[in-house]
Amino acid sequence: MQATLPDAVRPAIDPNSPVGKPLLRRDGREKVTGRATYSAEWHTPDVVHAVGIQSHIARGMIASFDVAEAERVSGFKVLTHETVPTMNAPAPFSGGGAAGTVVGPLSGPEIFHAGQWIACCFGKTLQQARHAARLVKVNYASTQTPQVTLESGAGDAEIARGAYTRGDPETAFEQAAVQVDAEYYTPTEHHNPIEPHATIAQWSKNDLGEPTLTVHDASQYIFGVRDTLAKAFTPLGLKAENTRVICKFMGGAFGCKGNMWPHTLLAAAAAKFLDKPVKFVIGREQMFDSIGFRTDTRQRVRLGADKDGTLTTQIHDGIAGSNKKDNYIENFTLATKVMYASPALLTRQHTARLDTQAPTFMRAPGECPGMFASECAMDELAERLGMDPVDLRKKNEPASDQTTGHEWSGRRAIECYDRVAEGFKLMRGPRVPRQKQEGHWLIGEGFSASTFHANMLPNSVKLRANVDGTFLITCGTHEMGTGTTTAQSQLAAEMLGVPVSRVRFELGDTRMPFGHVSGGSMTTAGVGTAILAAVARLTAKLAETAATNGLVPAGVAALRDAKLQSGRLVSGDRSLAIEDIIASTMNDSIEIEASSTDHPKPEGAKRYSAHSFGAHACEVAVDEQMGLVRVRRWHACFACGRILNAQTARSQFLGGIVMGIGQALTEEGFRDPRSGKITNHNLAEYHVPVNADIPPMTIEWLEDDADYNANPVGAKGIGEIGITGVAAAVANAVWHATGRRQRILPLTPSHVMSSDA
Ligand code: MOS
Repeated sequence: MQATLPDAVRPAIDPNSPVGKPLLRRDGREKVTGRATYSAEWHTPDVVHAVGIQSHIARGMIASFDVAEAERVSGFKVLTHETVPTMNAPAPFSGGGAAGTVVGPLSGPEIFHAGQWIACCFGKTLQQARHAARLVKVNYASTQTPQVTLESGAGDAEIARGAYTRGDPETAFEQAAVQVDAEYYTPTEHHNPIEPHATIAQWSKNDLGEPTLTVHDASQYIFGVRDTLAKAFTPLGLKAENTRVICKFMGGAFGCKGNMWPHTLLAAAAAKFLDKPVKFVIGREQMFDSIGFRTDTRQRVRLGADKDGTLTTQIHDGIAGSNKKDNYIENFTLATKVMYASPALLTRQHTARLDTQAPTFMRAPGECPGMFASECAMDELAERLGMDPVDLRKKNEPASDQTTGHEWSGRRAIECYDRVAEGFKLMRGPRVPRQKQEGHWLIGEGFSASTFHANMLPNSVKLRANVDGTFLITCGTHEMGTGTTTAQSQLAAEMLGVPVSRVRFELGDTRMPFGHVSGGSMTTAGVGTAILAAVARLTAKLAETAATNGLVPAGVAALRDAKLQSGRLVSGDRSLAIEDIIASTMNDSIEIEASSTDHPKPEGAKRYSAHSFGAHACEVAVDEQMGLVRVRRWHACFACGRILNAQTARSQFLGGIVMGIGQALTEEGFRDPRSGKITNHNLAEYHVPVNADIPPMTIEWLEDDADYNANPVGAKGIGEIGITGVAAAVANAVWHATGRRQRILPLTPSHVMSSDA
């Protein structure tokens, strides 16, 4: 089923390839010794600390500010919409930028959400700036009651794009022998990477006297930040080529740093205002309401099946939030379109327009909240059918993507289910709840399937072959903590036919070739494909150079079919050391650039539906009296294409599951319906999992799964699939333990105790 690439674009793979090996991350030492420089840590002489002031109301108008006291104690002017330099509204993706919201900082007296940036105070120290910020008084001219709940926005909710119908889903549901009709709720969740958002901005002038802007920004998309800044500051004469954005390390980023949020613009505006470099670090509490978040969803899933478990129809609809100014859609029906076969299918989503900040991507946007509903519904169907939940899924395995009509690029979902069942020693057959008890703990097992789509975006790299036998690859991509630097070095080493120690990979600067957003589990394939294209181009260049410089005897056909192997250019029984070819140029190196779009498509390439697949099984213990849920054991298996590094891949899967356990058990943002403010905006009240919440976990993945139909690297991405299905597995296990269906996340004691018996 799986194609291989033509030899011409696929240099010989060394049998000792480093790809797949569990190499420790190359930046590990820098990180643990504190030498890794995060965005807020760049030494910037004369830097001024900024502290942003946020709106305390969600809807209304500012009348005025009292700033005298703040200015007196700090010695700096306070920046407000009255004094902010002229700038354009931030451009979203659709406008050639990467802004998460078009609501700019300090954009005017009108308030669109609680937490909106309305003023900024400064200090020579952070403490001074904070103190000044406390002394600013904001006078509001008017305050209106905001709409912040899905219910309040449901009345005029609109149908989001992408609604899909096949067959006659409603009739099929009415006529189905066995039915499930259930509603599920997923709450708002907030990004809390260890490193909050942070920006250092500094203006200068170039030799032509044009303004330049250098920004250190915690970002999953430095080129997007560059373009958004350049567009916003066009009125000040800023050009993209005079804007430099740098991000060498991130202390985590799960989608929140995929867009540029207004504080980055505010930092740059402040640096202009003060004519000094400005550092702006978002406080932990500000992480909750100044950047995006995962919107809550209310979903209804209806499944109809024959008595033997064959699905006849699936209907998945519901509502998710967005704000009134932007167009983010939480695509929670995405996985339903690909997961199971059924002649009839309807997916439809409504969007409620609310007075909140814009929602955004959060690890496995779409699939993650969606599969909580759909995988719980499958478990409910298995119960109604008196059928093993794994067998139910296997019975409805689609041979191709029924929505697009495309073949799967590779789909080994069933193998994942079987490996999980076997590895976990999952009980088989119909489930009967409340069968096992240990003291006051009821014990249950839960299963869920998992999927995430595999896409790829264009990226470019520069590849330099040095005369000393080393190689340097640069790409303006990002090290989010995932191990990009290490995994891409392994891939490059394989393609170049040299040990990894001879390859360096540098990233995180817009002076490097273009790196696209590091999101959507797309970086490995996108950057990797550019490396493949670059190695092919380097190979051709070396062959050409060898011929030009007389290293190939006259009359011998040029080394057109040459490959790189063990540091040599090899063609038939001839071979030349790469170093000798470089030396023949009288230069220290040969350098080429290539983009992933330069990589030739295999002949007759057709379109495939490309997704990663997987499965989770877990055991929980539930204390019914106290409503407590403890996850006791976990096993998961994934089919994500080629795995470049076993160590960092395992960490990605584990991290996804840990984050999913947070979603399942504790994470929920509460917004006060009167003020629109988030009331638990700190890690004392917004609970992410801690070590004590996490059980022993085992992870496996299918080897030999390289999927060259999906992309030339054969790697389908691993950052997001780990979290999908996790909450469903936990909820299904809690049902098995207690006989109570859990349809509301998170499974806090109050939800568990009030659930249906
Ligand atoms: Mo991911 S939510 O696309 O960073």
